[in-house]
Amino acid sequence: MSERTPLILVSNRGPCTFERATDGTLRPRRGGGGLVTALTGLVHHRDALWIASAMSEEDAEVAERHGGGAFTVELDDVSYRIRLVVSDPTAYDRFYNVIANPLLWFIQHYLWDLSNAPEIRRAEVEAYEYGYRVVNEDLAAAVLDEARAFDEAVVMLHDYHLYVAPKVIRRERPDLFLHHFVHIPWTQPDAWRVLPADIREDIYEGVLANDIVAFHTRAYRRNFLLCCHELFGLEVDMEAGVVRAPDGREVWVRAYPLPISAQTFQRTAQRPAVHEYEREILRRRREHLILRVDRADLSKNILRGFTAFDLFLEQHPEFREQVTFIAHLIPSRQDVPEYREYLERIEALVAVVNHRHGTTDWMPIELRLRENLEEAIAAYKHYDLLIVNAIWDGMNLIAKEGPLVNERNGVSLLSENTGAHEELAEFALSVNPFDVQEQADAIHRALTMSAEERAWRAQGLKRIIAARDPGHWVDDQLADIEAKRAGRDPLAAR
Ligand code: G6P
Repeated sequence: MSERTPLILVSNRGPCTFERATDGTLRPRRGGGGLVTALTGLVHHRDALWIASAMSEEDAEVAERHGGGAFTVELDDVSYRIRLVVSDPTAYDRFYNVIANPLLWFIQHYLWDLSNAPEIRRAEVEAYEYGYRVVNEDLAAAVLDEARAFDEAVVMLHDYHLYVAPKVIRRERPDLFLHHFVHIPWTQPDAWRVLPADIREDIYEGVLANDIVAFHTRAYRRNFLLCCHELFGLEVDMEAGVVRAPDGREVWVRAYPLPISAQTFQRTAQRPAVHEYEREILRRRREHLILRVDRADLSKNILRGFTAFDLFLEQHPEFREQVTFIAHLIPSRQDVPEYREYLERIEALVAVVNHRHGTTDWMPIELRLRENLEEAIAAYKHYDLLIVNAIWDGMNLIAKEGPLVNERNGVSLLSENTGAHEELAEFALSVNPFDVQEQADAIHRALTMSAEERAWRAQGLKRIIAARDPGHWVDDQLADIEAKRAGRDPLAAR
């Protein structure tokens, strides 16, 4: 692909959201979650325009100031050219709080309690029609507007918020190359049967309007192909990773595991603020430090993690007062009732565990409910055990960031249902996220492991994590885009 081919990125969450500072000015703050980290790598590598939703009133104000067009923002030494799209607030609320999270997010993480929820009522169907579709159309319109200046362009769409947009773009500009990266798991066919048939069809039609559909793992790629075949009877080639869309086009389906930028991350780990937090951790630390860092999301399996720790303390009382569990949890999607309740249950369980085992000068679990990257990185450096026990997770970058900067040969407890597990299994302690006894045993094993084994595991993890960077990830995708545009054979292109 020519270096000059314009690249347009589209995602719901952009690189930053705007906040009003005390002096009244609007300042950008970096957006949370793995997607922003991934796309920042992409921007770094190639000049790209990034189209995203205005997610707050402050974002909308900034968008208006720029007449709805593109503008430049400097953030953490990176310069972003962005365009924020303002949707009708009611439509956006339905899009984000009713359809994207929870409906699609839950389906794609097997989170529905099928014996209880979900119920699809008129409200959900209307939220899809007048919320999800509307925001997708708004973002698609911005893409079409920006693409007007170009004879050719590659549009890279990201994640589960934008399944319908490709169809809208293709209708107007069939010449644009459409690439869609799904950062969360793609579940097996039956999970999708929760959706009413017409919505399901609309979503798959939308996704199949792309030229390439991409995932973090081979397992999600396989599931997507299986879904196309089983739910819609489409012709698929599992080996080549190709599905024939209803309109006869070939769509390539690919897996590109997302790396982190070791260089950038190590640089961030040297910031003075990080050192400040480190001093505080070292002053207060007990013999062992257990850490988890997550958005407070149901998929992250935070309750079972604390239950496992509770079991561990009960079964190994000799560790009482010797170990502290720091949990950095970033409150997330708090307008969705399921997320609010989840956070309440987390706080209640922590209170129970602390009451059961704590003493006058030892609190077993320290809950830090805030987003503070520097504080979290300081904790990364000094943990003895990192817990990543997600129920399902598209990739999970915490599992890569922690081991990269950790200085104590810390052990990783890693759910076998995370995307990162496909790469890191050999050197992590793999756990079944539902088996709390296994997790309790893994905590004990990690804290009693020989120094040699800890070093072997920690070095193994560092080696794998540092071997690839986002540049490779981007190059692999651009190479496939070029191969497909040139009409090459999908198997030969691999
Ligand atoms: C996950 C999703 C992203 C999302 C992020 C944060 O990583 O894959 O698309 O941006 O969570 O969630 P939020 O709802 O705050 O954007």
